[in-house]
Amino acid sequence: MKIVIVGSGGREHAMGWAFYREGYDVYYVPGNPGTARHGTNIAEIPDEEDILVIPGSETYIAGGIADGKDNVFAPDSRGARLESSKIWAKEFMKKHGIPTAPFIVVNTPKELKTALKSFSPPYVIKADGLAGGKGVIIEDDFEKAVEKGTMLIEGAFLKGVKGPVVVEEYLPGIELSAMAVASGEHFALFPFTRDYKRAYDGGKGPNTGGMGAVGPINVDKGIVDQIEDIYRLTLDGLKSEGISYKGFLYIGLMIKDDKVYVLEYNVRMGDPETEVIVMMNPSGFVSSVLSAYRGESIQPIVPKCFAVDVVIASEGYPLSPRKGQVIEREPTGFAFYAGVKEESGKLVVSGGRVFHCMGTGMTPEEARTSAYRCAESVSFPGAFFRRDIGELIER
Ligand code: AMP
Ligand code: GLY
Repeated sequence: MKIVIVGSGGREHAMGWAFYREGYDVYYVPGNPGTARHGTNIAEIPDEEDILVIPGSETYIAGGIADGKDNVFAPDSRGARLESSKIWAKEFMKKHGIPTAPFIVVNTPKELKTALKSFSPPYVIKADGLAGGKGVIIEDDFEKAVEKGTMLIEGAFLKGVKGPVVVEEYLPGIELSAMAVASGEHFALFPFTRDYKRAYDGGKGPNTGGMGAVGPINVDKGIVDQIEDIYRLTLDGLKSEGISYKGFLYIGLMIKDDKVYVLEYNVRMGDPETEVIVMMNPSGFVSSVLSAYRGESIQPIVPKCFAVDVVIASEGYPLSPRKGQVIEREPTGFAFYAGVKEESGKLVVSGGRVFHCMGTGMTPEEARTSAYRCAESVSFPGAFFRRDIGELIER
């Protein structure tokens, strides 16, 4: 069986690398110069029977890449509404008794103002559709919340995003992300990881897709039990609506007074979390995906080591990353490739997150040291990375 990974980032490189390492014939559509070293980059998904297609990002999944196809490891576009429509997801949670913040759906600026009055600050307003991680407004001031929310409804806040929004209660607490593979009846949680969302050391600067990650993170049994209940309720709820959910399921959680609430669903893996999950047990990752794909029960995925991912970003990331610089020195050690392309025989920067420098070890410190040794070896104009990945300071 051929494995076809759709996408071109570090997450896709990491998934493909795990299959490649297990001896599979791996293809990437379109991939990048790093993935070409662990398989073959191709332009289109081959029209063949014996292939397993694994899409990386929600865009493909919400766009229907798995619709009517048994050989795509992802939910169909109906299942993808967990991520592609916040309104659908919130109503789904309410209907199936899944703990989440109380909310009101509003269609007009007038309804927005009325709804905001029934909550206290900070106010939380969420765009309904996919917004590339930018669709959440958290605002202390009532008037500003009305103003920004109105702009969001009218399409003036985010390019290409307009229409109804969700207003919900602000939940203070500790955030945690859970990721799992699922197949209708069965699911298995991946080891927990922590990602570092802000651009600069100490949790400063703008929010990014993630500047690094570390795992495994220890989570109390009482919390894990609640998370498993949430996965069970979610899969059963989907099934009762005629949706057999196959693929990855990432749940963004808030823990408040030892109780777990769902903030959001993602129908894909996280990036840079995937890189860390894969490194902690590559063969466990592969067998869990294959078991889920075949609808078999899935063995728990046990971490074999600690892993750290230090992202090497290009200056200006996340707002407007500089692109086109020639990469003078590629990472030595172990790295997954992301925003990199080849031009006239040279590697050049083509995205905000450029490399994921990986380290593993039997202690978190060992994993950090090896990831940072790799990070220090990279050189291109405007390269930067956080120095505190793996230190437990954020959250
Ligand atoms: P989401 O895309 O729904 O996960 O929201 C993005 C971020 O906004 C989350 O990671 C939280 O930090 C924050 N957030 C979202 N909803 C809430 C909420 N109800 N209470 C507090 N923080 C929230
Ligand atoms: N690292 C967060 C995400 O992939 O959504």
